Amino acid sequence: MRKVASRKRANSDPQFGGGDAVIERDQLVARLAQSEKLAAVGELACGVAHDVNNILQAVIMGAEIIRQRPDDTQLVEKTSKLLSLAAARGTSIVRRVLSLSRPSDRCPQSVDTSVLLVELSDLLVMSLGEGAKLTVKIGADLPRVCLDRAEFETVLINLAINGRDAMEHGGALIISAHRQTMDDADVGLSPGDYLRVDVVDSGSGMDPETLSRAMEPFFTTKPPGKGTGLGLSMARDFAERFGGALTISSAPSFGTTVTLRLPAAPCS
Ligand SMILES: Nc1ncnc2c1ncn2[C@@H]1O[C@H](COP(=O)(O)OP(=O)(O)OP(=O)(O)O)[C@@H](O)[C@H]1O
Ligand SMILES: [Mg+2]
Repeated sequence: MRKVASRKRANSDPQFGGGDAVIERDQLVARLAQSEKLAAVGELACGVAHDVNNILQAVIMGAEIIRQRPDDTQLVEKTSKLLSLAAARGTSIVRRVLSLSRPSDRCPQSVDTSVLLVELSDLLVMSLGEGAKLTVKIGADLPRVCLDRAEFETVLINLAINGRDAMEHGGALIISAHRQTMDDADVGLSPGDYLRVDVVDSGSGMDPETLSRAMEPFFTTKPPGKGTGLGLSMARDFAERFGGALTISSAPSFGTTVTLRLPAAPCS
C-alpha cells in the first residue's frame, strides 16, 4: 500500500510539473521502481525461507527419530528415504527460485494425485510432529491434474501446519481428497471436473476479522519467529495460477476447513 501511495504522490505533486523538474521526476520514479524491485526480492526471500523452514522441520524430526531408535533398521531405512525426499524437495525449491526470472521453466506436469498424496502422507506426519493426529482419506477415481509437484506439496504442508498450530492441545487433522464436478452455478470456476482437497482441523477457528484477512500476504496472528503470514497467500496464488481456487470456512471453536480445488486437466 505504501509503495502505491508514494508513486501517486510523485505523479500528482505540482512541484514535479515541468522543465528540469521532469528529469527529477523521472529519476525519482526510476528510484521508486528500483526500491519496489528490492521489496519484491525481500518478499521472495521470505517465501523461500518459509518453504525451506518447513523442509528443515521434517529433516530435524527425521534425524531425531534415527537418533532415538538407531537399532530399528526398518524405521531407520524408511526415515532415511524420507530424508532424501525432503532434500530433493529442497533442491526443487532452489530450482524454482532460480527459474523465477524465466517463469516458463516452472515444471507443471500431469500428476497422479492419489500416488502423490500417499507419498506425501509420511512427510506430513513428520512435519506435524506429535500432537496433531493426521488422517489422510483418498477417494477412488481422483483426476490427474496438471501442476508443479513441489509447489503442491509445499502448499499442503503449509495448510497442515496451520491446522496443527490451531490445535494447541492436539486434535484431529483430516486431509481428504476426491473428484468434484462443478457446474455453472458454482461461482468463480469454469464448469468441469476438479480435484478437491479439504484440510480440516478441530482447532481454535478464526473470528470473522481474521478470516477476512487470512489470505492477505504477510497477515499473521502468530508471534514473531512462528509465522510470516505467507502460507495461505502462497496457497491461493498457486491454486489460481493453475485455474483453481482456495476457500476457507471457519468459526471460533468449530475449527477450520481449507478447500483447494484444481481443475482435472492433462498438461497441454
Ligand atoms: N487452520 C487455521 N485455524 C485457525 N487460524 C488459521 C488457520 N490457518 C490460518 N489461520 C490464520 O490465518 C493467519 C494467516 O495464515 P498463513 O498460513 O497465511 O500465515 P501464518 O501461518 O501465520 O505464517 P506462515 O504460514 O507464513 O508460517 C494465521 O496467522 C492464523 O491467524
Ligand atoms: Mg501458515
